[in-house]
Amino acid sequence: MSAINEWLSATRLIVDRVLDANLPAAETPPAVIHEAMRYAVLGGGKRIRPILGIAAAEACGAHVDDLLVPIASLELIHTYSLVHDDLPALDNDDLRRGRKTTHVVFGEAMAILTGDALLTEAFAWLARPVAGVDAGHQLRAVREIALAVDSKGMIGGQVADLIATGTNEATADQLDFIHRNKTGKLLTASVILGGLLANADDEKIEALRIYGRAIGLAFQIVDDLLDQEEDATTLGKTAGKDLAQGKLTYPALFGTDAARAAVDTLLSEAIRNAAIIGGPVNYLAGIARFICERRS
Ligand code: IPE
Ligand code: IPE
Ligand code: MG
Ligand code: MG
Ligand code: MG
Repeated sequence: MSAINEWLSATRLIVDRVLDANLPAAETPPAVIHEAMRYAVLGGGKRIRPILGIAAAEACGAHVDDLLVPIASLELIHTYSLVHDDLPALDNDDLRRGRKTTHVVFGEAMAILTGDALLTEAFAWLARPVAGVDAGHQLRAVREIALAVDSKGMIGGQVADLIATGTNEATADQLDFIHRNKTGKLLTASVILGGLLANADDEKIEALRIYGRAIGLAFQIVDDLLDQEEDATTLGKTAGKDLAQGKLTYPALFGTDAARAAVDTLLSEAIRNAAIIGGPVNYLAGIARFICERRS
């Protein structure tokens, strides 16, 4: 295994352990919601958002042990977005991370409440006092995450995605808005969270932001490509559904080759900025490559 793949696997295990240890125990009353939260979060996934947070914090010189709980909160927010994205009223999916979606197992009402609970839990984790982190930086980090996923961020992107679904006169600007908001902003905020918790200076935060925007957009273009190139077993989620549902995607609007070319351009930009960030250890370029070259 290459060094980056080894680091990704090891870091994924650390994130899994933090999630398992800090989520409410399954028997906490009312048990059904805590079972559903644990089902949704602990069922696999690439853990790319916490991984980005950890890599950014390390690149900015932090020892991440004390930062793992706030950084793992990113996965709670991401998982909430998936649980709601899969609901019948949104993308209506019954397969996620190789298993039945939360609403299929626990019912629609419980899946809605699971998403609500995960989002709220995330902010409790973000606001826990952290040894060695300046409270001002932490407050800025909490705000950064909130702004990334509010109605002008991730939710705005999801709304624009739904509005564009099934229409034929969508534009490149609309597509850019959807992808940068529904997916890009939380990924960007993930690296910024790592930087802020590491007390990084403004120059590094700016380079992290440019890096995050590049990999954030690339991530969703690759998601679009994989939806049409891979099968459900490889993806762990329904394949070919974007075309079937009339989703506005990069390959649908520009074609597969242009979508791949856009990913390559964004990857170069991300790698350039990873170098600017520097640091004692820096996995950001390797993660960018992983995001762009992954097959699931
Ligand atoms: C899928 O995200 C939804 C998008 C934002 C494209 P991931 O591809 O990160 O899903 P998991 O967490 O690995 O399952
Ligand atoms: C999901 O985008 C984005 C969010 C959950 C915010 P998609 O709808 O393309 O994600 P998948 O393909 O279902 O994972
Ligand atoms: Mg969707
Ligand atoms: Mg979906
Ligand atoms: Mg998709």
